[in-house]
Amino acid sequence: MMRTIRIFDTTLRDGEQSPGASMNVQEKLALAKQLAKLGVDVIEAGFAFSSPGDFEAIRTIGGEVEGPIICSLARAREEDITRAWEALRDAPRKRIHTFHSTSDIHLKHQFRVTREEALRRSVEMVRLARSYVDDVEFSPMDATRTDIAFLCEVVEAVIEAGASTVNIPDTVGYAVPSEFGYLIKTLFEKVPNIQKAVIAVHCHNDLGLATANSLAAVLNGAGQIECTVNGIGERAGNCSMEEVVMALRTRRDVFRADTKIRTEEIMRTSKLVTKITGISVQPNKAIVGANAFAHESGIHQDGLLKEKSTYEIIRPESIGLRSAKLVLGKHSGRHAFKTRLKELGYVLNDEELNRAFEKFKRLADQKKEIFDEDVEALISEGVAKVPEYFRLADLHIISGLNQKPTAAVKLTVGDAVLDKIEYGDGPVDATYKAIVSLTGTRSKLLKFEVKGITGGTDAMGEVVISLEEDDRTVRGHGADTDIIVAAAKAFINALNKLEARRKQSS
Ligand code: KIV
Ligand code: ZN
Repeated sequence: MMRTIRIFDTTLRDGEQSPGASMNVQEKLALAKQLAKLGVDVIEAGFAFSSPGDFEAIRTIGGEVEGPIICSLARAREEDITRAWEALRDAPRKRIHTFHSTSDIHLKHQFRVTREEALRRSVEMVRLARSYVDDVEFSPMDATRTDIAFLCEVVEAVIEAGASTVNIPDTVGYAVPSEFGYLIKTLFEKVPNIQKAVIAVHCHNDLGLATANSLAAVLNGAGQIECTVNGIGERAGNCSMEEVVMALRTRRDVFRADTKIRTEEIMRTSKLVTKITGISVQPNKAIVGANAFAHESGIHQDGLLKEKSTYEIIRPESIGLRSAKLVLGKHSGRHAFKTRLKELGYVLNDEELNRAFEKFKRLADQKKEIFDEDVEALISEGVAKVPEYFRLADLHIISGLNQKPTAAVKLTVGDAVLDKIEYGDGPVDATYKAIVSLTGTRSKLLKFEVKGITGGTDAMGEVVISLEEDDRTVRGHGADTDIIVAAAKAFINALNKLEARRKQSS
């Protein structure tokens, strides 16, 4: 019999714990909507008690995202569980996920409580969570380093107390597949009430084994996998959603299991995560890496031309990868543009469409051939819209072999129009100096990355930057055929985010 494995996506919670990946409410909402399109069963939207931003993100996602169960993490503490409930109150489908460490290492050195106390708190907090919601998940943290007899005792007790999902985390990514599979098997053999709950797994990737461990757990009865898009997460990250989903889909013969994921949405989701978090995917990453479907060897290319199955185990289209496709040009009209957007999965309201079409026309003047990726870059500039307090009105650059790089920048700042000329070590440096002087920003540039969106010398370039101000980090994005303009847009986008935060907290 074919089983359906639930996909519990924790990109917005554990994924956000990746260094530098914090997301604001609008970014989380945009990603949650895409996760719903992807077809995940559960979205762990955050940790309500941890910050007002997380609380607001969970509340907003619960109110606006339809389909998946929306979940908040909560430590096994009364105030955490109550806060999770407050954030989830309006969500039609909600889950509280509470956790307590169970390994002796954690109990002795970190929490300084006995096993008995850990068990008592876990049971009590599952009961409290059940008084708020019907759907409660419990995680014995550091399960893979927990004494197995004690782990069985905890699992049995929390199921008895009302947990309908029990998650077995490999918190420090210590397990290896044979051992982890055996652990899951043992739970099924030793815990008498185990059939009353779904057994989930949550594997970290410290030894590069998160996907393999999760799959070993499925082979031994696990019914839910916790994972993140692009495998982002604490330290080396979590089990990667796209890997585990495509492994199950491709090897249904082995696993006798599949998920409800619409795999055609994988690539789009992966790109959105990169865009929002600023964390790039390594080129050789399975499934979503730039080289995952690139065949370099002549022998392989020869085989592929004769018959795809010789060297291709996954059809690129099945994860939503399209070959670079000429979509539109300078003479394309609004209707053709709208139709293409729809084919790409974007449904915009009239105002958004007008704005996107205007940008498209400007791009079409600069670039002869416009590809799907270019259109997607235009659209995703609008992801997580931020009010434009600063706006780039004009930019002139002088640079060259024997020229002192000079930038003349005109900005609208609120209602005023200001301009400034600056010199620098290069055109980007000169532009950034002018913007600093016009905005008076005290922020520090932490990261500056440039990449080409499509091939060719007229390709759109994308710039992603990180800025830090008063211990807050924000990312900025800009895309343009002119890389200096893209850099200026990225800086201004980040400054607008800092401004929005300042206004929110004042
Ligand atoms: O890695 C872990 O143990 C966790 C728990 C909170 C489930 O993220
Ligand atoms: Zn984790």
